[in-house]
Amino acid sequence: MKLPRHVAIILDGNGRWAKAKGLPRSFGHQEGLKTLVELIKYTNSIGLEELSVFGFSTENWNRPKSEVNYIMGLVEKGYKNYQEKIKAIDLKIKVVGELEMLKPSLQKIAQEIEEATKDNKGMTLNVCFSYGGKQELVRAFKKLEGQEITIETIQNNLDIKTDVDLLIRTGGNQRISNFLIWQLAYAELYFTEVYFPDFKKEDFDQAIEYYNKQERRFGGLK
Ligand code: IPE
Ligand code: MG
Repeated sequence: MKLPRHVAIILDGNGRWAKAKGLPRSFGHQEGLKTLVELIKYTNSIGLEELSVFGFSTENWNRPKSEVNYIMGLVEKGYKNYQEKIKAIDLKIKVVGELEMLKPSLQKIAQEIEEATKDNKGMTLNVCFSYGGKQELVRAFKKLEGQEITIETIQNNLDIKTDVDLLIRTGGNQRISNFLIWQLAYAELYFTEVYFPDFKKEDFDQAIEYYNKQERRFGGLK
């Protein structure tokens, strides 16, 4: 089976996963983070070139403060406890989004992690955090001042420059939610009812199987 070059994933359903078990939403986020770590290790181990994950959207800032703080704390603690392990995995990690909205300690982590992993040879991991697709485009357009506007110049000024081949969304909804709107132009879309904490490597394999059954014509004819 052929691996897509760039897979993007909207991890959704953490809260509903917890609710279905009679647990507070925070448990869902905690479990979701564990699932994400496993998924990253798995996709790196099978030789995927690039993975973009949607961890927190610009719109997610509108959630109750308690939930936002919980998620931020989870990420910060996760990094503090596992930074040596994270740096030891062969990944190039990039944190992409409206980073100035994060508290300074998290901004520092984002910079640190990027710097520490930039010469690694493994998979490129884009952690989209405080991220919005329209906002990424605005950032790119601002950098274009004085330059010719072409598909190439816009693309070269995005934070994530490569097109997505396969988008996976867990949790049952079928929408893009302001994720990588430019990069998704010709992506195959795979939606699954599975809540993200339950999304295991077998589920990832199923998405790859789906991808392999699609005939990609990019608007042409076979
Ligand atoms: C996705 O799960 C994780 C984040 C957005 C941080 P949700 O928190 O959206 O879970 P549901 O959709 O409410 O079940
Ligand atoms: Mg959701």
